[in-house]
Amino acid sequence: MSAIESVLVENRVFPPPAAFTAQANVKPADFEAMKAKAERDHAGFWADLARENLIWSKPFTKSLDDSNAPFFKWFSDGELNASYNCLDRHLNTPVADKTAIIFEADGGDVTKVTYRDLYKRVCRFANGLKSLGYKKGDRAIIYLPMSIEAVVAMQACARIGMTHSVVFGGFSAKSLQERIVDVGATLVIAADEQMRGGKAIPLKPAVDEAYGMGGCDAVRHTIVYKRTGGNVAYGAKDIDWAKVEAGQADDCPAEMVNAEHPLFVLYTSGSTGKPKGVQHSTGGYLLHAMLTMKWTFDIKPNDVFWCTADVGWVTGHTYVTYGPLAVGATEIIFEGVPTFPNAGRFWDMIQKHKCTVFYTAPTAIRSLIKAADTTPDVAPGKYDLSSLRLLGSVGEPINPEAWMWYYKHIGSERCPIVDTFWQTETGGHMITPLPGVTPLVPGSCTQALPGIAAAIVDETANDVPNGSGGILVIKKPWPSMIRTIWGDPERFKKSYFPDELKGYYLAGDGAVRDAVHGNFRITGRIDDVLNVSGHRLGTMEIESALVANPLVAEAAVVGRPDETTGEAVSAFVVLKGARPADKESAAKIAKELRDWVGKEIGPIAKPKDIRFGDNLPKTRSGKIMRRLLRAIAKGEEITQDVSTLENPAILEQLKQSL
Ligand code: WT7
Repeated sequence: MSAIESVLVENRVFPPPAAFTAQANVKPADFEAMKAKAERDHAGFWADLARENLIWSKPFTKSLDDSNAPFFKWFSDGELNASYNCLDRHLNTPVADKTAIIFEADGGDVTKVTYRDLYKRVCRFANGLKSLGYKKGDRAIIYLPMSIEAVVAMQACARIGMTHSVVFGGFSAKSLQERIVDVGATLVIAADEQMRGGKAIPLKPAVDEAYGMGGCDAVRHTIVYKRTGGNVAYGAKDIDWAKVEAGQADDCPAEMVNAEHPLFVLYTSGSTGKPKGVQHSTGGYLLHAMLTMKWTFDIKPNDVFWCTADVGWVTGHTYVTYGPLAVGATEIIFEGVPTFPNAGRFWDMIQKHKCTVFYTAPTAIRSLIKAADTTPDVAPGKYDLSSLRLLGSVGEPINPEAWMWYYKHIGSERCPIVDTFWQTETGGHMITPLPGVTPLVPGSCTQALPGIAAAIVDETANDVPNGSGGILVIKKPWPSMIRTIWGDPERFKKSYFPDELKGYYLAGDGAVRDAVHGNFRITGRIDDVLNVSGHRLGTMEIESALVANPLVAEAAVVGRPDETTGEAVSAFVVLKGARPADKESAAKIAKELRDWVGKEIGPIAKPKDIRFGDNLPKTRSGKIMRRLLRAIAKGEEITQDVSTLENPAILEQLKQSL
């Protein structure tokens, strides 16, 4: 029954409402014309958009430079500044006195800033950074909660040409230290504590702990934003955020940089134990952030846009810090969590702030579906959500059931849903419906944007026909693409432009296009990367963390499907000593290892299940058979041939051991 139902659901098509199309920034004819133009003249298509949308202090003469592929450059003899393009450009327009940010704190306090206020705050902070000796080319690590200050810090770095690298507040001291060292930071901007769900969680102590791990001597200051004023220790490097701003001028001329100047480096998981520092440009990146605000989110002057992603992830960079400001939108920034003080928080905020365009992750939707059943008094039906006109989803495939719930209960069957496929590396949306153009199919991210040459190929780069699965690639470079892995150009080439793929960009996902419309559906990662609650985690990173524990001899980590988080982390562990003798001791060691992973990487990486065995299933050559572990993690019967295993009996032991 459920199989038939889900087939039926997936075949449902929702054409764009005529009224939406009539007012849309991109109408079907525009879409066709843009696609045709991009196909005729790829570099020219992007160059025209870059001239129309960005303000250049020095206009570029060359669009795409592919002379050193795959290290592509765009607009590379042009100069501009990202913060100028987000703030100064609005100063002599009606946007200047419009609300830029509506900030709602965890506890419910609301603070609003206009574009003019935000400009002044960014300038004062940027002047403060300059007076501390920071300048173009230096790198800052930012470890701040969702706040106006996080935007100010990022924009101020961009303003003086510093490259920022934001570390999500949920990452551990160890992860923070690795990033400080890898990016060569000379400045860390952190908060004393962050507020989440009514609780204060320390951040500043993690910075000190990171310094204590060594390798951070290049850092000259920790600027501390006192969010709670909590009792945290201060040392010689520390300087209060308020002091940095104090007495500084309200104007700070933006430092113009080359279009290729690294605006930021953002670390993400790959298939090795070491996170990759994804390096983005200034011009190409900002162009795509702006265009997708207009195309995908159909942004108009009166919109109130809300992207719920944290600035620690790429979604928060493109659709909180840069995109909404560059187009002069009003946006909501939320400090807290969707379930505090109750599961109606999102709906209450949409109602209160009259949010029109709402962008969140499937994992949040799924947890709120559950909550709507258990706490019906704060279900979405209890709120006035009529301000909404467009919904978005990002980070992982949205299952058709969750899509339908979102469509019905949040969008009242009135709002299109844009299921946006993209990655840290792509800078912005790649494959997504356009709300006035594309017929929606639940569970499908539908069609590539104009100028994005997405395709599905086999292992040797041949196109596969619609209906057959394959590897998702992007056949031509695009302006907002990753430029390199910070400090590791070889790894960049190997990860994204492997020789077999003949110059195509390898996304790392499997995909299939349907036979009728050629709509894309993402089937999941093809590498050892998991997607837990829309967050990317490398199985190798978690394995390295586990084996670093003195109790552990060997570990293997796989993903298994999870109703709420999409995927869950499942670990198989061989201890140095004997396998735990009973349930209690197994539970005790499992807890110790979970906490250990939390400290090594961050709470999001903690394994949900841990199984202990005397060994792991291996081939005679010693290779761990992960597909068997995946079957055990899922609770499936093992139907594969296990005759090549060195130790088939281990499978039964592992199955029994949870
Ligand atoms: C991976 C990228 C995109 C910003 C947030 C995550 C998965 C992302 C979708 C979608 C199916 C999706 C892919 C991708 N993913 N969006 N709409 N449908 N899968 O960025 O951490 O770099 O992760 O997230 O597997 O490769 P990220």
